[in-house]
Amino acid sequence: MARILVTGSTAGIGLETARQLLASGHGVVLHARDDARAEAVQAQLRTDAGEPEVVVGDLTSMASTRRLALEVAESRPLDVVVHNAGVGASDERVLTDDGLERIFQVNVVAPYLLTALVPAPARLVYLASGTQSRGELLLDDLQHDPARRAWDGMQAYSDSKLADVVLALAVARRWPYVVSNAVDPGWIRTRMGGASASGEPAEGADTPVWLATSQEPDATLSGRYLHRRRALEPNPAARDEAVQEGLLETLAELTGTGLPSR
Ligand SMILES: NC(=O)c1ccc[n+]([C@@H]2O[C@H](COP(=O)([O-])OP(=O)(O)OC[C@H]3O[C@@H](n4cnc5c(N)ncnc54)[C@H](OP(=O)(O)O)[C@@H]3O)[C@@H](O)[C@H]2O)c1
Repeated sequence: MARILVTGSTAGIGLETARQLLASGHGVVLHARDDARAEAVQAQLRTDAGEPEVVVGDLTSMASTRRLALEVAESRPLDVVVHNAGVGASDERVLTDDGLERIFQVNVVAPYLLTALVPAPARLVYLASGTQSRGELLLDDLQHDPARRAWDGMQAYSDSKLADVVLALAVARRWPYVVSNAVDPGWIRTRMGGASASGEPAEGADTPVWLATSQEPDATLSGRYLHRRRALEPNPAARDEAVQEGLLETLAELTGTGLPSR
């Protein structure tokens, strides 16, 4: 049985992913942004084996994300990390206490930092989105500077999800012994997906759970972008090595933490 960290496991697809993994007997490390949510989700997902482990970290803060990474790095090694936590489009451009654009920080900086700081597991899964196809990565304007362009929350979200695919594929290329993939979960009825979304959380969790745990040969291929367990061709930028290296370099400069060569 694998030991699997699922970020953002207090709600939506992450909660359902954790639930499915626990039901199959895997060791799940839950993640919540604060202690109150941590206690609530631990109690909610209690099984006969007891309460699952939980780690706490607010991904709108680099300091908190680093503490989370350190706690995870110091605990028993993980087999898999599912980078699921994310925020959707917003009407306004919001800055975090770190002074970073919030969607970019939670959806891109946080999974990058966790990837760089937590010892590499055997498998990595990054929750992207079908919106990655309309994403555009301006490496000199990843945070949608208001002096350069009017705020478009959906574009910022799409760009962040393209960055997640770029990150997954960059890690797959840099770390050939790690199985690293990106997933479009589909349009799923969650807080982010909204009430009119067509899919249930179980459908959204299916491909991440399969990639995290299946021994089927198809589930152990790396460097892919998948939807419903099938590989799709991602936005061409995602396979562009110059874009991959540019994103890694920009994130390394921003965070002061490079992606280690493993
Ligand atoms: N739903 C869809 O239709 C859809 C479609 C394509 C892609 N996705 C992707 O799937 C992933 C999960 O989405 P979802 O629909 O399940 O969203 P959701 O229901 O809004 O859940 C998001 C999860 O991320 C956590 N999170 C957000 N900001 C955080 C922060 N600052 N620190 C710590 N945790 C934080 C949330 O914790 P709190 O409960 O504390 O806020 C929650 O556990 C996301 O990456 C999303 O981009 C979703």
